[in-house]
Amino acid sequence: MKTTLSFPVYKTKNSKLQQTNFSNLVFGQTISDHMFVADYKNGEWTDLRIEAYQPLSLNPANATLHYGQSIFEGMKAYRTPNGEVSVFRGDANWRRLNESAERMCMPTIPEEIFMEGLMQLLDLDRDWVPTAKGASLYVRPFMFATDDYIGVKPSETYKFMIFTCPVGNYYSKPVSVKVETEFTRATPGGTGAAKTAGNYAASLYPARRAQNLGYDQLLWTDGKNHQMIEESGTMNVMFKINGTIITAPTTTGTILKGITRDSVIQLAKDWNEPLEERFLSVSELEEALNSGTLEEAFGTGTAATIAHIERIHVNGKDYTLPAKKEDAFSHRVLRELDGIKYGTIADPHHWIALV
Ligand code: COI
Repeated sequence: MKTTLSFPVYKTKNSKLQQTNFSNLVFGQTISDHMFVADYKNGEWTDLRIEAYQPLSLNPANATLHYGQSIFEGMKAYRTPNGEVSVFRGDANWRRLNESAERMCMPTIPEEIFMEGLMQLLDLDRDWVPTAKGASLYVRPFMFATDDYIGVKPSETYKFMIFTCPVGNYYSKPVSVKVETEFTRATPGGTGAAKTAGNYAASLYPARRAQNLGYDQLLWTDGKNHQMIEESGTMNVMFKINGTIITAPTTTGTILKGITRDSVIQLAKDWNEPLEERFLSVSELEEALNSGTLEEAFGTGTAATIAHIERIHVNGKDYTLPAKKEDAFSHRVLRELDGIKYGTIADPHHWIALV
């Protein structure tokens, strides 16, 4: 691999690779050997390094623990048939991390530090990229405040880190979702578009209530009237009604600008599939479910990939969706994206970079 930025690499003496069971990967449980670290102080990123994955030492007054200046990304690396390692749309993750940073009053990270940290880490831990079908190496870049100070103000120091986990599917089967009309994920002017820890923290209680009723996830609705479908928290959502794919726009600041979402929209354009970026109302969804015009519903996300939705709960009623057909749009899009990511088909949009 050609590198443009040089920094120290401290290799672990205790690799966990041999003890890792790659045939039974639970999402997010197994962490690879190394991590990339950069520190922000005196207005610049310094002390770049790769070192063994290890615990951090934090003071109880660490600002993140109290006020939540914490942002993250999710991306994946894949094993191609001839043994190479590819990474999907890393530049898009870098851009989105910086958008989150600006919203959370945190410093942005230069592209070279993000990409070189990522690529050199993936190069070092390339043996951690699984070879099994459908498996991949999940990459978690993140940044958090490191000031030891409990006055409420933006931190002056930060850490940017990347670690990786070999993973299988996030959802191992089709998902069931409940339309949420009581709790709110995001409102205009809030932080819904930022990939920040607090959004996920606030979703846990309502999601747990839905899980206790037997649903995997929520379909969040707008915070004002709870009448419009927004996203699902772990993924954006798309519906195919009467031949048209409908997905919420990202113009209100309440919806995460999903990179898988963007890729699916691009593929729909390539294939001349009708797709509308507009809000779908809860009553429109109910009508489509009742009249049988809802052909497909699916989530899109890095972890979730393309997640088929098989059951939707709306206003006290459960609807079972048609079984996924081989020629369904969501099926074709999953096959196409997998082909590009795993390097088995052409990549006309240059979404893949080889490590
Ligand atoms: C992702 O898809 O990468 C996410 O960040 C969603 C979830 C695992 C938090």
